Amino acid sequence: MCGIFGYIGKKEAKNILIEGLESLEYRGYDSAGVAIVEDDEIKITKRAGKVEELKKVLLKNENSGTLGIAHTRWATHGLPTENNAHPHFDSKKNVVLVHNGIIENYLELKNEFKIKTASQVDTEIIAELLSIMPEDDNLEKLKHVSKLLKGSYAIAIIFKNEPDAIYLAKKESPLMIGQDNDDIFISSDANAFKKYCKSFYILNNGDFAKITYNNIEFFNKNKKIYKKLNKFINTFSFQSNNKYIMLDEIFQTPDALRETANYFSNFKDIKSYFNNIDKIYLIGCGTAYHSCLYGKHYLNFLKVPIFTEIASEFRYGDYKITKNTLCIFISQSGETADTLACVKKCKCKTLAITNVPNSSITFACKKTILMKAGWERAVASTKAYSCQLLIFYLLRCLLLDKQPHISSLINAVKKYLATLNMETLSKNLLNYEKVMFIGRQGDFVTAKESALKLKEISYLNCIACPSGELKHGTLAIVDNKTLVFMIATQKKLMSKNLLTKDEIEARGGKCLIASCFEGYDIKLPHTQSNFLPIISILPFQLLACNVSILKGYNPDKPRNLSKSVTVE
Ligand code: AGP
Repeated sequence: MCGIFGYIGKKEAKNILIEGLESLEYRGYDSAGVAIVEDDEIKITKRAGKVEELKKVLLKNENSGTLGIAHTRWATHGLPTENNAHPHFDSKKNVVLVHNGIIENYLELKNEFKIKTASQVDTEIIAELLSIMPEDDNLEKLKHVSKLLKGSYAIAIIFKNEPDAIYLAKKESPLMIGQDNDDIFISSDANAFKKYCKSFYILNNGDFAKITYNNIEFFNKNKKIYKKLNKFINTFSFQSNNKYIMLDEIFQTPDALRETANYFSNFKDIKSYFNNIDKIYLIGCGTAYHSCLYGKHYLNFLKVPIFTEIASEFRYGDYKITKNTLCIFISQSGETADTLACVKKCKCKTLAITNVPNSSITFACKKTILMKAGWERAVASTKAYSCQLLIFYLLRCLLLDKQPHISSLINAVKKYLATLNMETLSKNLLNYEKVMFIGRQGDFVTAKESALKLKEISYLNCIACPSGELKHGTLAIVDNKTLVFMIATQKKLMSKNLLTKDEIEARGGKCLIASCFEGYDIKLPHTQSNFLPIISILPFQLLACNVSILKGYNPDKPRNLSKSVTVE
């Protein structure tokens, strides 16, 4: 949530900053801004809206400064206006900064220090505090202020009295630094400077950094520290064929599955981690939580109880966790704040399943299984979801000492995607006011994920319901303006499913069935049951994307959402 980018080097900063922000736009795109130092003067340019709006003005401006900080915002406090956009100056214009995270005690601090702010954002309090701190040295001021702040932050700061330096502070929100000879880059996500650097530094909680031309120094609250460089783990790069990233990512699924399956051989020793466990918790948010639900199906042969938990709930609940409990955290980004908070709470065996190496959740867990879905940039998760399910299938095979059938899976996915056409259905869907997804057992998980996908990028009012549960209440909202998609992949439940269809149609609703058996509305391939979770979501990912585009939206950047939810 919110992306920070910074540059200090020999080149003009403005193009590099804009390019960095474009890469980070998946983290937020309500408003954007930069602060660039030119002739020792700090110049701010901000715009409400996407980075594109900022780019239009910034690239026209004459500004040859070679040091700057930039931000793309996902609003938490205050509207996404130009005034609330970062960077923020203090009222005396001594300090300018960009911030990712939430300062939970900003109102208390405003009262305590009698500070008036010009915007509605929590960030401005940091600038004001830095400006009034008594210390002469900027690093000491920053250390002092960080002690006052509660919440999460990654901050990049320029002080007016030291215009050739960028200071950084980090707690909970990610911040990384890359260097390529004379060029130094700062980012919330190392992928944003990957094309320039071979390795990078990661700031840990409580770390500070001071970056000047050609020099990076690290500190903790007491002393200067030294940090190791991290190498980029080769992630799979994919070709872009479509106007929308989400469409590309859906069609990258077979390659993402192949890469993930190949890489899984590095994690085979995880098998022994499952020895002597008393129970398993599968924990995640949103789509990753849906993977947990399927994870339970894949692992249900184990003789221990398996619980699935939404991270934002789990973090505040009471659970009987022992040292033999295994908590598995699923997170594409590896940065989701709710999931990370759960890891910290679990003093037991912890395993992360993420798509991003060196992410906070991978650091916090004792073990990690890394997926290789490639960089997922569309806010709506597609190929990463498929790879999360694949990991559970691979774990199942590993624990059962069975050979996974990867080529058959990939061929089935490839063949299916090549023939899949959801255009007519997507257009028809626009004739309905309400959309519902239903299913039984595992198919209900696909129904939940399909409903999430459709609502998050098309803003349609849609829900998921277990098929058999309809008649216990939800059927009341079914009328002739309701379209129901039923996912039905189990032969033994087909007669029950047809009864449910009758119940829907008797109330005027339209029910379309997606099935691997002949004669239904949306054809799913006839394949082994372990593959169906991975395949049955594909038509609905495509449907959601088509509907979003038909409604004139950009599926890659849905309103109110961000790819990486690093705040609570
Ligand atoms: C997916 O389409 C969503 N945008 C969202 O639910 C996401 O899966 C959730 O925020 C968890 O993210 P994570 O996998 O990066 O932890």
